[in-house]
Amino acid sequence: MSKVLHRNIAEPPPVAVRAEGCRIFDSAGKSYIDASGGAAVSCLGHGHPRVLSALQEAMSNLQYVHTGSFTHESQEELAEILVSSAPENISHAFFVSSGSEAVESALKLTRQYFLEIGQPERRHFISRRQSYHGNTLGALAVSGNAMRRKSYQPLLMSTSHISPCYAYRDRFIDESIEAYGLRVANELETEILKLGPETVAGFIAEPIVGATLGAVEPVPGYFRRIRDICDKYGVLLIADEIMCGGGRTGDMFVMDSEKVAADIITIAKGLGGGYQPIGAMLLSNQIATAIRNGTGSFMHGHTYLGHPLACSAALAVQKVIKDENLLTAVAVNGARLIDGLKQGLGQHPNVGDIRGRGLLIGLEFVKNRETKAPFEPSWKLNQRVKQEAKERGVMVYPMPGTIDGIFGDHIVLAPPFTTSVSDIDAIVSAVTDAIPSAIAGIPN
Ligand SMILES: Cc1ncc(COP(=O)(O)O)c(C=O)c1O
Repeated sequence: MSKVLHRNIAEPPPVAVRAEGCRIFDSAGKSYIDASGGAAVSCLGHGHPRVLSALQEAMSNLQYVHTGSFTHESQEELAEILVSSAPENISHAFFVSSGSEAVESALKLTRQYFLEIGQPERRHFISRRQSYHGNTLGALAVSGNAMRRKSYQPLLMSTSHISPCYAYRDRFIDESIEAYGLRVANELETEILKLGPETVAGFIAEPIVGATLGAVEPVPGYFRRIRDICDKYGVLLIADEIMCGGGRTGDMFVMDSEKVAADIITIAKGLGGGYQPIGAMLLSNQIATAIRNGTGSFMHGHTYLGHPLACSAALAVQKVIKDENLLTAVAVNGARLIDGLKQGLGQHPNVGDIRGRGLLIGLEFVKNRETKAPFEPSWKLNQRVKQEAKERGVMVYPMPGTIDGIFGDHIVLAPPFTTSVSDIDAIVSAVTDAIPSAIAGIPN
């Protein structure tokens, strides 16, 4: 019996022994196309030779130093590359080991910023329902994933949650897209006024909502209005691009494509592509200047900040994305994937929405396309789809509770940018086949 506390304690998953390109091989000799890149992580697939050799070189040069005493080349160069490709207002990067750590850093930096500029009463964070920002207590407190919050509710700091921007379900029939976007963005202003504007520190949102909603894009004008509200009340805007950033949707930063500047951006998954655990918080010059003119240091740290191997892996990943022109590959592969899915499943009575941008794609399931009524949660349709796809040799990312944390089912597809055309087609065919089989297995 395994001594590992697996996600399902009673049922250890298959043993992965090797991975190559977009395929993972298990100890029974079965291979799987990694159509979700794990959890939207493996942007280059597995075993990319340039990343492996960068890691081997880094390993033989410098394994670890403490950032309280030293910096090192890969951290400095990675910061240069990220800051120069980020929106103009971003001036510095802070490297951690995960997405949750990046979000914790963002929350604490926001608080410290207001102390530095003499506004100590600012302490409240506002976020959105049906968002996910991480599993550590601060990140979970701002997360709007009801299922993940439930058990830990008594431990979470008090935060406010406004509506997500989820036009598929929440737009009124006679409402224009723009009017819908303004209506839900205006909830931020209402909440700021309710809490007292002088007490609100930050608003955090995923520009494209990944795991919890299943690749939901904002409507045009939504983030512009959010930015205006933040500016009006002096609230910092934190863009959590941990899943959607790093090129996954065809742009290095989604907020850049929205033409809206965030004060802090968090990234993680595609940053190191799974070759090493790494996340980053990027911050604006305004915040950096406040720290420089104030206490001079961010009162937050971890033992493994700026880890040399993690930074070396991420640096190599970022160089490969640029040198191999992979953002174009994301656009081309993404179009082929979503077109194939729409062709195969667009008319399926139980596929309510096929959505997303680039290689971050979501499929939401419904019992009835007209009413958008969800399936009974106890049927675990999302898990059934995962299982059917797995039997066809394709790994997808399933999630329940799309609508409110309890009702609704979706899957996310996020294959590596480097996936071949024939593997994109194989994903389309397996998913198109798996969904009707999963639905057929549901009791009447
Ligand atoms: C948008 C977003 N933020 C934060 C996180 C937390 O990242 P991690 O699991 O690396 O702690 C995730 C993970 O799925 C995420 O998708």
